[in-house]
Amino acid sequence: MLTLTDLSFAYPSQGPLFAGLNAQVGAGEVLAVVGRNGAGKSTLLRLLNGLLRPDTGEVAVRGRSTDGLKVHEIARDIGTLFQMPEQQLFAARVQEEVAFGPRQLRIPDAEVKSRVDQALQQTFLGDQAQRHPLDLSMAERRFTALASILAMHPAVLLLDEPQRGLDRRWTERLETIIANEREAGKAVVLICHDMDFVDRNAQSVLALGTGETPVVQTVEDFFSDPHLLRRAHVDPPGRIRLASLGPSQ
Ligand SMILES: Nc1ncnc2c1ncn2[C@@H]1O[C@H](COP(=O)(O)OP(=O)(O)OP(=O)(O)O)[C@@H](O)[C@H]1O
Ligand SMILES: [Mg+2]
Repeated sequence: MLTLTDLSFAYPSQGPLFAGLNAQVGAGEVLAVVGRNGAGKSTLLRLLNGLLRPDTGEVAVRGRSTDGLKVHEIARDIGTLFQMPEQQLFAARVQEEVAFGPRQLRIPDAEVKSRVDQALQQTFLGDQAQRHPLDLSMAERRFTALASILAMHPAVLLLDEPQRGLDRRWTERLETIIANEREAGKAVVLICHDMDFVDRNAQSVLALGTGETPVVQTVEDFFSDPHLLRRAHVDPPGRIRLASLGPSQ
């Protein structure tokens, strides 16, 4: 579904953030991108959605390179929930916010309405359609931003720290949405500092900022490699920490 081939990138007058990066995310798969602050996770996201362009290599969706496509063309296939999306809402009503993207695609009004209704149901906001986004809670605002992406029906979802600051109820709702999108055959790239969340929701992991060429690993392999965990500056999830304590005396 999503293929990264030999991707390299450096900001001007800085060392390379990554070089020779290869990765694939299949339909129904969640790839977690992890690593310390400043490792390049959000930068990688911007290379995937076209806001930045790689120095070498390419990004492809369903076998089609995004090279040469404009940002809004890439956005048809790749939807991005940025870090702190709740600060980026602009419409006067939740339903207008969610309708904006599909309208840009020049989809007929009746279908826009059904997409908006469906996206609001999916994001547990079915009864919030008429509210002003600024009157919503932080979690409701973030889910409004997520609904506006889902209403575009992208094949690939990029989620930058979507769980950050959510309470248990909204975290479970987010996990339900991710599971439903997987079931619908989407490919998901999840940036996340919470390894328990990664453990519950991802199948594969890409660790950035370790000083070596990043390679995709299964969640199991990643969490059972203490040296790599240390280099990536992440703690293992609770179940691994508990297992390493061994049976109680
Ligand atoms: N526009 C820019 N110009 C130059 N350097 C930048 C720019 N944006 C980010 N950087 C630098 O690139 C590095 C990677 O930043 P990035 O935001 O991708 O990290 P991150 O892994 O998302 O971090 P965090 O976990 O804090 O969100 C950092 O050192 C950052 O200071
Ligand atoms: Mg970031």
